[in-house]
Amino acid sequence: MRDKANIILIGFMGSGKSSVGSRLAKNLEFDFMDMDKEIERITQMDIPSIFKKYGEYHFRSVETALLKSLGAKEKTVISTGGGTAMCAENWKILSELGLLVHLYVTLDTAILRTGGKDRPMLQQDRGQLESMWQKRLLVYQLAEHTVDTEGRSIEEVTQYIVDFIKILKE
Ligand code: S3P
Repeated sequence: MRDKANIILIGFMGSGKSSVGSRLAKNLEFDFMDMDKEIERITQMDIPSIFKKYGEYHFRSVETALLKSLGAKEKTVISTGGGTAMCAENWKILSELGLLVHLYVTLDTAILRTGGKDRPMLQQDRGQLESMWQKRLLVYQLAEHTVDTEGRSIEEVTQYIVDFIKILKE
C-alpha cells in the first residue's frame, strides 16, 4: 500500500461510507473518523441545521478546514461526506492523506437506503438529483479503487476492501 497510511472512503450519500468505515477500521485495527460526525462535534450542530442556518457554502468551508487539520492522521479509516471529494482542493488533500476507495451506489439505491432523510443535498427534484449523481460519479471514479455496493451487505463490502488491501500489502 506504499506509504499511504490511511484509507479514505468516498462516494454518494447512502453508499455506506460510515457503516463500512467503522467496520473496516475494526477489522484492520485502525482508528475511525466520520467527517460528518466530526463536523457535528466541532460545530455542536447537526448537519441539516448547519445547512439551514448557514447554507451549503459555509458547510463546505467547514469540511475543507477539517480536512486541512488531518495531516497527522495515521492508520485511520476516514469516511467523507458525499460532497467532500467534489472540489479540487479537497481532492488533493484526500489523495495525499490516504488510499481513496470509492463505494459505488446507484441513485435509486441511495434514495432507498437514506430514505431521503437528514440529507439536505437530496432535497431536489429527480432531474437535479440525476445530474448531481452523474457529475459526482465522474469524480468518484478517479479513486484508486471502486467497490460496487449494489446487492452487497456492509459485511461483504468491508470484506472485499480488506481482501484487496491484503493484496496491495503483499
Ligand atoms: C452531503 C452528504 C452528507 C453530508 C452533507 C452533504 C453531500 O454525507 O456531508 O449532508 O453533499 O452529498 P453522507 O454522504 O454521509 O450522507
